[in-house]
Amino acid sequence: MAKINIKIEGIPYQVEEGLTVLEAAKLCGYEIPSLCAFNHGECSRGSCRVCLVEVKGARGLVASCVYPVNEGMEITISSPKASEARRASVELLLSNHNQNCQQCDKNGKCELLHVAYLTGAREGRYQGAKTPTTLDQLTPSIIRDTSKCILCGRCVERCKNAHGMGILGFENRGFRTIVAPAENRSFANSPCILCGQCVSVCPTGALMEKSEIDKVDAAFKAGKHVVVQTAPAVRAALGEEFGMPVGTPVTGKMVAALRRLGFKKVYDTNFAADVTIMEEGTELLERINNGGVLPMITSCSPGWINYAEYNYGDLLPHLSTCKSPQQMQGALLKDYYAAKKDIAPEDMFVVSVMPCTAKKYEKERPELRVNEIPDVDAVLTTRELARMIKRAGIVFHKLPDEEFDQDLMGEYTGAAVIFGVTGGVMEAALRTVYYVLTGTEHEAINFEAVRGLEGIREASLDINGMTVNVAIAHGMKNAKVLLDEIREGKSKYHFIEIMGCPGGCIAGGGQPLVRSCFMPYEDNDIQDTFRAKRAAALYSEDERQVLRQSHNNPQVKKLYDEYLIKPNSHKAHELLHTTYKAKEGYND
Ligand code: FES
Repeated sequence: MAKINIKIEGIPYQVEEGLTVLEAAKLCGYEIPSLCAFNHGECSRGSCRVCLVEVKGARGLVASCVYPVNEGMEITISSPKASEARRASVELLLSNHNQNCQQCDKNGKCELLHVAYLTGAREGRYQGAKTPTTLDQLTPSIIRDTSKCILCGRCVERCKNAHGMGILGFENRGFRTIVAPAENRSFANSPCILCGQCVSVCPTGALMEKSEIDKVDAAFKAGKHVVVQTAPAVRAALGEEFGMPVGTPVTGKMVAALRRLGFKKVYDTNFAADVTIMEEGTELLERINNGGVLPMITSCSPGWINYAEYNYGDLLPHLSTCKSPQQMQGALLKDYYAAKKDIAPEDMFVVSVMPCTAKKYEKERPELRVNEIPDVDAVLTTRELARMIKRAGIVFHKLPDEEFDQDLMGEYTGAAVIFGVTGGVMEAALRTVYYVLTGTEHEAINFEAVRGLEGIREASLDINGMTVNVAIAHGMKNAKVLLDEIREGKSKYHFIEIMGCPGGCIAGGGQPLVRSCFMPYEDNDIQDTFRAKRAAALYSEDERQVLRQSHNNPQVKKLYDEYLIKPNSHKAHELLHTTYKAKEGYND
């Protein structure tokens, strides 16, 4: 990109052509307050007017988030006129905002409060009627509270950009405008996949996960045997909640914190991820060898499962019947672990810490119960875990690094760790499928061909004379391309990995919020930088593991030898597999 000369506050700078004034100013070290702008133009409607500045020669103040820089431009941020206009914009937003900030779970992360502070919007100068509000708490995953919505439209854009879906849109007109699913339905009565991408971009508390912290507290108080499992992506991002740089792996400190919170056992969902590979790899080979339905598609991501059930009911036989690792871990804890430890399953309380809001919904699926007992009792997002740690007064960075509990279900391999990133399940499966077909380990261990962050990736692998064609997609917009190929009979693949969220679980809707306004320019560039850094944290943990293939996990071998007999056995099906059904999109 060509460089151009501009002046900000009278100081000359050279910046890249094509940037907005807001971006150029941030690169030059200035913070212009902004709200509706997010992620360098991903969502910028120029609607909130919080980012107004003066540009010499322009008529009136300009919205810096949509106004491009050009040669010789002179920008003034600090003029009384611009400062007062920004303050007035924020005060107008506050005048229609539910200000029960101390009860809001976005407290400490609210961008509206941040810009109120930056602009000095302290007094309620504008008072009057408020827009009628809706509080939607019908799904187990997401709460929508329009009394806190500032109509920035980030959620609307994110749903479209990530999934090609328009679940959220602007309803009504003028003063009565709200953001909602069509006709202000509940998410529960819409084809929302509950992935939480909208939550992750909402600048206020208008969209939040439905917290289950109280449920966990109640289980502790009731004296239940409370066991926790943590998904791989959590360790790659939890540190961000405590001021650590993006991509800092915090596995040991996370385990130490969970012990101090009172969990009887701290296990890693990775054990079940290794079991998933044994089950899914066996299912794939059986389908290939016996003329089963191909391509087979992974089933770990509940957001993706929702999307399939709403939009591709005819393709459900392509989905692996394997439960997700969260549910497998829960089912094994309440059956295998409970039997070995002589605990009644109903006295157990299984908590999952997940990067995902859809996991909260997944645990409620009636199909995911064994003998009417749910596999998992409560799901906390990474953000909720951070809130519990802070509430308890635990100083995260001072914690020692501790190990997961090692008994029965404690060991895991590097293959399981990379489940948290797009392409990881595929790579883990290929490591084991290669071994099963050749009797030897893949020499390089890594399958670089399936790594990366491109929306759709494919690879062709020659394994012992068999060509295995695979593809990976993340975000439903990308998945749709592969699914339409299957529907049209044009798919050449044997195995497809689909993850609901762009980037996979590392960027799930329950992960720490990535905030343009709180981060340096480089760290949120088109969202890929932070995804790549979190992914690198998982790949590095994989590299550090002595065992890196699921079939080499000794406790998984023992589980099969002593309990399940073999992958896809009758007992394994009873505990670890599930069914799907097509669902109506708008069902009220
Ligand atoms: Fe620029 Fe909203 S108008 S941030």
